[in-house]
Amino acid sequence: MTLAPEAVVPLLRGRFGRPYLYEERCESTQLLLAADAPEGAVAVCDFQSAGRGRLGRRWEAPRGTALQLSVLLRPPADRRPAELTLVAALALAETLEEVAQVPAAIKWPNDVLVGERKVAGILGETRGEAVVLGVGLNVEQTEEELPPRTRQPPTSLRVATGHSFDRAALLASLLDRLEPRYDAWVDDGLAALRDELDARDFLRGRIVRVGELRGRAVEIGADGNLVLESGGERHAVVGGEVTYEA
Ligand code: BTN
Repeated sequence: MTLAPEAVVPLLRGRFGRPYLYEERCESTQLLLAADAPEGAVAVCDFQSAGRGRLGRRWEAPRGTALQLSVLLRPPADRRPAELTLVAALALAETLEEVAQVPAAIKWPNDVLVGERKVAGILGETRGEAVVLGVGLNVEQTEEELPPRTRQPPTSLRVATGHSFDRAALLASLLDRLEPRYDAWVDDGLAALRDELDARDFLRGRIVRVGELRGRAVEIGADGNLVLESGGERHAVVGGEVTYEA
């Protein structure tokens, strides 16, 4: 099923996705949006030759199997752009539950999990005062087509459910949910999304490790940091690779 404008634009209901840029193949959708593009501009590719992941990693998916998009946002100067990965993760988790009927959790700071396996990742990059928010969602990959198993094994909607999904419908639904979530965050920060984030916080209560630090994940703080309790003290973790103990 195509993600060309004629399949997607008629499904759009809000201001996100306008303009909608589609290329069958690109280096990375993160590179397609000009810094002066209007807020809500979206770029989508069916195949990325140099898809980017977090922490300098690559993001790879066979042609036409994943939903790969970038959205240009212009958050106000008093908001922390890093929090946007959580805003997008929430919108994505809700989309998965609605469209694919699978329970979805957020693994701080940027992963969406289905059944403890990573189905999607989010990458925020700043461009001056704008933020390009990239979303990669594994949709149609078979088990063999997924990236090699890592500490957080990957999955796709197809592997998780046994069904195929219309990527255009998933995309429209995601943009439809992201827009009000983003607007609420612009107005009130993460406080506006507190309850939903808590309910989907995969790490909460687990023993986790980030760098040298090992402790119990308490919550995602109001500023988007991960709060850990270790040795009777609370620590705010700003970023990095988080692993957890089963
Ligand atoms: C991660 O899990 O490390 C983040 C992955 C983000 C991948 C998406 S796919 C669309 C957009 N374009 C990219 O090059 N990366 C993001």
